[in-house]
Amino acid sequence: MNKDELKQRIEKIDNALNLYLKKEDNPQSIIYDAMRYSVFAGGKRLRPMLMLEWCKLCGGSEEDAMPFACAMEMIHTYSLIHDDLPAMDNDNLRRGIPTNHIKFGEANAILAGDALLNKAFETMLCFGKDAKNAMRAMYEIALSSGTEGMIGGQIVDIESEGKDISIDTLKYLHTLKTGAIIRSSCKAGAILAGAKDETIKRADEFAINLGIAFQIRDDILDVEGSTDVLGKPVGSDNEQDKNTYVKLLGLDRSKALVKEYSSNAKAILSGFGDGAEFLTELTDYLISRNN
Ligand code: IPE
Ligand code: IPE
Ligand code: MG
Ligand code: MG
Ligand code: MG
Repeated sequence: MNKDELKQRIEKIDNALNLYLKKEDNPQSIIYDAMRYSVFAGGKRLRPMLMLEWCKLCGGSEEDAMPFACAMEMIHTYSLIHDDLPAMDNDNLRRGIPTNHIKFGEANAILAGDALLNKAFETMLCFGKDAKNAMRAMYEIALSSGTEGMIGGQIVDIESEGKDISIDTLKYLHTLKTGAIIRSSCKAGAILAGAKDETIKRADEFAINLGIAFQIRDDILDVEGSTDVLGKPVGSDNEQDKNTYVKLLGLDRSKALVKEYSSNAKAILSGFGDGAEFLTELTDYLISRNN
């Protein structure tokens, strides 16, 4: 993976986010400080990158997809702010800096998460209104963030704390809490490009496999990563008595599964020829990442 290219792509996304998250000068302006604090703390920008790349791969325009890609990053960042709250994973470090509730207090952190979710839809409706297939893309994004998607997965994750669960239940919760918005990022990219249903299905299959590999890698890093590099506390899963792939299957089997799922993802990309080179490299980078 070419680090300069990655940096350039992140910069482009950050510039657009900066525009959509412009601070208003009003009595509630601290909400913008709290929202921007977590959004601009860094982050790999995986989900927007996937959306933009799938849009390009299917012949669409990156510019048209940008508001949707940024909306996805806002939804993702909101999920992280809430995930770190004392009532959830109770973590104090995120993206290398103190978590939102440590910096702004719990009430503001809850509201900053809520505000990012609203801002995501405002951004898509305001800046993405002329994009072809915008409603369909927004529907996928809404569905993937809600009760049958990310929120559903977070619920099963929390309900499973301290309990013995099957590997099928674990796969189910990973597929929802992390996989769902990775899936909608890829699908929405293809949808915005006006891709055929068959192609959207392949984007989805790629994302299902990538999503599982990505969350297993996240579970592994929680055990053998370094807090400095990761930017979030190592050992958090164990502390919260979470069910993870490492807990259920051990490190070696978890690592083998990351390889297996990412190979499945790359096999799907091979059908797209040279145009899928960046997505192939991105897949390799994400499953071998240390942060
Ligand atoms: C962290 O996501 C939460 C998971 C779903 C595993 P990322 O690893 O993409 O976090 P950032 O956006 O780079 O901070
Ligand atoms: C969270 O999974 C997935 C979200 C929906 C935010 P984790 O709880 O494992 O994510 P990290 O490890 O805190 O980033
Ligand atoms: Mg969590
Ligand atoms: Mg967490
Ligand atoms: Mg984790």
